[in-house]
Formats: sequence, C-alpha cells, structure tokens
Amino acid sequence: LEKKETFKIGFSQCVSNDAWRRAMHEEMARELSFYPELSLEIKDARGNNELQIRQIREFLGEGIDLLVVSPNESDPLTPVVEEAFQSGIPVIIVDRKINSNLYSAYVGGDNYEIGFTAGQYIRNLLDNKGDLLEIWGLKGSSPAKERNRGLMEALEGSDIRIVAELEGEWEKDTARVRMRDYLEKKEHVPFDLIFGHNDVMAIGAYEICRDVGLRHKKFVGVDALPGKLGGIQAITDGVLHASFIYPTGGDKAIEVAKKILFGEVYEKENILQTAAVDSSNVRIMKQQTDKILDQQANIIRQREMINNQVELYQSQRGLLMIFGITLFVA
Ligand code: FRU
Repeated sequence: LEKKETFKIGFSQCVSNDAWRRAMHEEMARELSFYPELSLEIKDARGNNELQIRQIREFLGEGIDLLVVSPNESDPLTPVVEEAFQSGIPVIIVDRKINSNLYSAYVGGDNYEIGFTAGQYIRNLLDNKGDLLEIWGLKGSSPAKERNRGLMEALEGSDIRIVAELEGEWEKDTARVRMRDYLEKKEHVPFDLIFGHNDVMAIGAYEICRDVGLRHKKFVGVDALPGKLGGIQAITDGVLHASFIYPTGGDKAIEVAKKILFGEVYEKENILQTAAVDSSNVRIMKQQTDKILDQQANIIRQREMINNQVELYQSQRGLLMIFGITLFVA
C-alpha cells in the first residue's frame, strides 16, 4: 500500500435496524477514536442484495482505501466482493461470509460451533428426546446455514426431532408472523422447545406462544446481547432459557483494518469466541455487561468533554492571535 496520511474505510452493512448491528457500529466508533488517520463511512443495504451490490460499486467509484462488508446473502454478493478484492482494495468480511476466499481478512464468530454448542445444550436440556421447532435466519446468509448445520450435527444420535422449520429471516416481526401462522394451522405438530437462530426471533416466538398459553415451552436463541431488549435481559426475565454470545467484532474489524492500512502483520481468520448464557451464569454476565455499558457511556462523555476543551482552546487561541499575542504551549 502507498504511504498516505489518511485512509477512508467504506463499510457495506447488510442491515442496521437492530440492536446487534448498532452495537457493532458503536464498537467501531470507539476503536476509531484511537486512529484519527482513519475515517469510516457506513452504507446500509436494508437487507436488499441488489442495493448492497450497488452500494459496494458506489464505494469503489468514490475511491475507498479498504472495504469492510457484511454480506446480506452469500451467493448474490460473492461476485462484487471478489471484484473489489481483485481490483486491489483490501476487503474485510465481518459476521456473514461470501462463497470464496478472495478477501483479506474475516472477523466474526464461528457459527457452526454456535449451532453445535446450542445443539449439545438442547440435548442436555431435553434429556436427549423431544420435539424441536427451528426458526431460521435468512436462508441465504452464512450464519443461518452454519447454525443449522451445527445444530443438526449435535442432535445426531439423539431422539430429538425437528418437527418444523420456520423462516424468520433474522427479524422479530417476521418470526412472530410465521409463528402465529404455524400455531393457527389445525394440524400443526406440537413442540417442546424453540431454537431461534437469534434471540429477537426466539423472543418474538415466545410472545406469540405466551399469548396462546404456551409460555411454558422452552426458548433458546443466539446473540446474548446486553441492554434492555437483549438476550441477557430475556434470560433474566425467564423469557429465554439460554443464549449463546455472538460478538459483533466491530472493534476487531477496525483493529484489523488499521493493521492492513498501516502495513502491519495481521491474521486472515479472526474467529471470536462464543459462550453459553443461562440461569446459572446470567447474573454475573449481567453485572459485567451493565458495567461495560456504563463505562462506554463514560467514554463517550469524556470524548465530548475533550472535544469541547479542544474547541474552546482553538477559539481562545484564535482570539489571542487577533490581539497579536503569541501563546506558547509547553
Ligand atoms: C443482526 C443479526 C444477528 C445475528 C446476525 C447474523 O442483524 O440478525 O441477530 O446473529 O445478524 O448475521
């Protein structure tokens, strides 16, 4: 890479209207505040493959130094991401994958492992037998496929049957609609447990079940986000039985981007760890994550104060110069 003073990072984000993506953006902003040489622009594809392809092309036309992308669905996004990489722009894939290894680095959780760990957890919980309803994330996105594959493999050899698979497309509202439709069908097969590929869908399904007297079923999700509407709170409230941490990797993505742009050594595969959260550890988890949220709010306040001070200093210095006084700063 040529030596430059400043670098522009373009982030093509598949969707951004959920708490998990917002947490990712906040982590990115925090990490970016250490590197004034880096600037970031996010384009939100709102879950639309064609729009995401167009937005990536826009980035390439505008001239970016590095592309970060979380591809909505793997198949339709693979060619344009490969094109970007082959044109010589470093590409960091976050969370969702493409179908090729033509990228510079990947940052994200191991979704096969998450599905597998969830499957083992469910086997334990159901004592190796029972009926499971699976709510899928968007079928063409890699985390949905990998979570499903992990789950299936973990359930092999048990007497747990998957009695239905609903397409929740990662969205709470969609999961609610599909769940209601399912329960309204007269011939629907009853179930013991719902596994949602993410927490918001599992929580949505819970709400529909609760309304028809099925709140005693078990609900398991993925993400375990802190905050009011997150999985940790849902476990605390007894809505979800368990969830699996799926780190957003926002800070890691910026760290890797910085290494690439500054010509430092970096890893191609940056796999983030998962962990089960349930009633046995949710209290300590909540304490920890509440504390982190608090500290994050403090960091933002401190940054604002520093910015105000800098502005004040600059305007005062401007004034002093007008009056012909030179200010020496030690
Ligand atoms: C957020 C989300 C998460 C899920 C991830 C999968 O947009 O749906 O809930 O874990 O994306 O890509």
